[in-house]
Amino acid sequence: MHLTEQELLIYENQGFLLLPECFSRAEVEIMKAELSTLSVETSPQKILEKDGKTVRSFHGSHTKNNVFNCLTRHPLLVYPAMQIVGSKVYIYQFKVNMKAAFSGDIWKWHQDYIYWYKEDGMPKPKVVNAMCLLDDMNEFNGPLFVIPSSHKEEMIDVTTYKNKVETTNSNSPSDSNEWISSFSANLKYSLSQELVTNLVSKYGITFIKAAAGSVLFFDSNIVHASSNNISPFGRSAVIITYNSIENTPLPVQNPRPDFLVSQDYRPVTPLAPDELSQFYSVKICTSNP
Ligand code: SIN
Ligand code: MN
Repeated sequence: MHLTEQELLIYENQGFLLLPECFSRAEVEIMKAELSTLSVETSPQKILEKDGKTVRSFHGSHTKNNVFNCLTRHPLLVYPAMQIVGSKVYIYQFKVNMKAAFSGDIWKWHQDYIYWYKEDGMPKPKVVNAMCLLDDMNEFNGPLFVIPSSHKEEMIDVTTYKNKVETTNSNSPSDSNEWISSFSANLKYSLSQELVTNLVSKYGITFIKAAAGSVLFFDSNIVHASSNNISPFGRSAVIITYNSIENTPLPVQNPRPDFLVSQDYRPVTPLAPDELSQFYSVKICTSNP
């Protein structure tokens, strides 16, 4: 459940590491079954696609759902996350991206850390994403695109590149729900075509193809994106962001809601081997989400 030296080196060099099929089909099915329950709930934690009906993502579900709470504490995720950031971790953000068949929309080219730095006051990129695939991800269903090693550029401050046309034409949400612009298809800190062109000519481009149950760890400064899903195959995935307990955000003027930026800084305790069966049985899960 720990990464090898070589896996850590790959992560450091390319800014991501794919662990194929960590979770079994049965475990994936347990998690997928929870999605149908979550999708009928109405709450601000649920973001819809532009069509106003397809679910794009859910946030913070681990605090109310036992299966996802267990997932956040799963040793297959927590130990590697601790190795990568070099300390104990807490859950900074939890989301499920649905990328629905025929209608899942794009994620523009971006880095994650710029949101966490500018919007949330996160001091350093001492944080890692664990993307757990609940469906196979392939060339057809809007896979994740990455520019390998682009995390070495560190945070690219796209606000200094933004041109006037882009800013004045954007469909800005009102102040009260400004945070939505970090989750809609029209991302706030997306990279310009020029920047992406330059980065791709420097580092190349790839996409992640992996079976359901695989886990992708990726750096908060890796440049990534995904295309829309016009295939008949859904592409749901959970993304858990583990932040170092030594890297808690500094106060900001307009904090985003707790379900986007958790203020529960308690270190995650990985489930012990004899607790893993909790994952299979929602009812006996002793967690207190
Ligand atoms: C993300 O950038 O957080 C999500 C990208 C995706 O789900 O394709
Ligand atoms: Mn992202």
